[in-house]
Amino acid sequence: MQTPALAVSPAYRSLQAHAQLAGQWNLRELFAQSPQRFPAMTIEAAGLFLDYSKNLVSEQTLPLLCELARERGVETRRAAMFAGEKINNTEKRAVLHTALRAPRSMALTVDGQDVVADIHAVLERVKSFSELVCSGEWRGHTGKAITDIVNIGIGGSDLGPKMVCLALRPFVRPGLSMHFVSNVDGHDMDSILAKVDPATTLFIVTSKTFTTMETMLNAHTARNWFLRHANEPALPQHFVAVSTNAEAVAAFGIDTGNMFPFWDWVGGRYSVWSAVGLPIALAVGYDRFTEFLAGAHAMDRHFCDAPLEANMPVVLALIGLWNRNFLGHASLTIAPYHQDLARFAAYLQQLDMESNGKRVTRDGQPVGVSTCPTVWGDCGTNGQHAYFQLLHQGTDITPIDFIAALLPNHELPGHHAALLANCFAQAEAFMRGKTENEVRLEMRAQNMAEAEVEALVPHRTFPGNRPSNMLLMDRLTPATLGALIALYEHKTFVQGVIWNVNSFDQWGVELGKVLAKNIQAELEGQSPPQKHDSSTSGLIARAKKVATN
Ligand code: F6P
Repeated sequence: MQTPALAVSPAYRSLQAHAQLAGQWNLRELFAQSPQRFPAMTIEAAGLFLDYSKNLVSEQTLPLLCELARERGVETRRAAMFAGEKINNTEKRAVLHTALRAPRSMALTVDGQDVVADIHAVLERVKSFSELVCSGEWRGHTGKAITDIVNIGIGGSDLGPKMVCLALRPFVRPGLSMHFVSNVDGHDMDSILAKVDPATTLFIVTSKTFTTMETMLNAHTARNWFLRHANEPALPQHFVAVSTNAEAVAAFGIDTGNMFPFWDWVGGRYSVWSAVGLPIALAVGYDRFTEFLAGAHAMDRHFCDAPLEANMPVVLALIGLWNRNFLGHASLTIAPYHQDLARFAAYLQQLDMESNGKRVTRDGQPVGVSTCPTVWGDCGTNGQHAYFQLLHQGTDITPIDFIAALLPNHELPGHHAALLANCFAQAEAFMRGKTENEVRLEMRAQNMAEAEVEALVPHRTFPGNRPSNMLLMDRLTPATLGALIALYEHKTFVQGVIWNVNSFDQWGVELGKVLAKNIQAELEGQSPPQKHDSSTSGLIARAKKVATN
């Protein structure tokens, strides 16, 4: 049965009517009217605390949004995902990243296979391998211990482990340097190879498919570089693979005994919990890796058990939907006030935009409303000195997710209060703004001439009423990071269910891949000029001309 179009659903229509009222609301006034607004609009779960009170919502908004979630079957689809039903309908696959962090005691059988047992068998291998490397027992071909790990992968086979290894920097084992090569741009690989010693370097080739062009080219380059310094029999000590494709791993020349498997029901952007997390286990040790998994599992439990109105991922999703579909905000800024979360926005870009950047429903009909906003961002306080100007006074409103840890993972005095103060101040400023009168009074108090005051008033006024969420954790640890990532995964899931898109395929990346293959053949002179538009042909001709000069 086809799901009815979102735009005509009764709950959606009620929300549209409700959004007409929101046009009259002012956040300052909403706060003044309700001293209970903060406690009423906060949720605590799995070591995270969400304050969504600085969004343009009234007491009626969340119940209406939850009505929409119920009407669109969020609870049923959530149960289907956790049960291993094939909810990735265009690829006929289950979606079981949540099983990757399930405790060993949990039972889940899919297609007659005990997936939790399979997962824990691979985790055991991750454990023993990471312990061998960390203890120095795993040696390179000259007998020296491993000092450098180079993960070669792209997209989900890169962004997760890279982001997490950086986020958990204070927990990284001393004496081990982590490197990540993703780009097909040779500058990426070149810069890493210049830093590492082939005798003490371990390459992890991570690719779900083991066919991704960038990863395969980088892996071959690394292998050739290594073989310039060592003989073929040394390869197994220096190359391991993480993949679902044993045949391709063997064809590349990596012993499948050195391959850590995962399964087609793990989407690339949801794979950090699988053997794709091997660099994390190596960097911080296996026990910390299990804490990371446990943090995510705690969020899974909350997502499954909490009522929708008090369910952190559901509420984060619904507030995002309110901002996107009813208030019309087309982008979302992620502002982690934590330098170690510097790659978090990049990670969320793939998670959110590859999942929900879709324009047709699961059954191939136009969605009919806007879907995923553009996700972008960088660390506070750096962003404040770059693009926050636009966020405060630009013509478009961009909702912001502030993320902060209340305690630092360092002992440098003075920094953390300054950081947190800026984080809370920005959220307050976006909410409050600064009225013309406040600006006038401030300038008059500085004895400025009245003409100058009036000339500057429009420039120094802040409209305010700009929405933000505040996500806090006590400290950034493996567990809270796991919970944070799982929170956003489930947020993405809930929005995908409401838009009725398949959040687990990514056909949109295919066209460019195919065209690039043809153009590369032309650039390398292996194929005659093809029929392109005049711009593409002109660019190819120009590149060839410069290369041959
Ligand atoms: O092209 C997009 C994509 O398929 C992502 O979804 C995926 O994370 C990435 O490429 C890498 O894929 P693989 O792990 O198969 O190399």
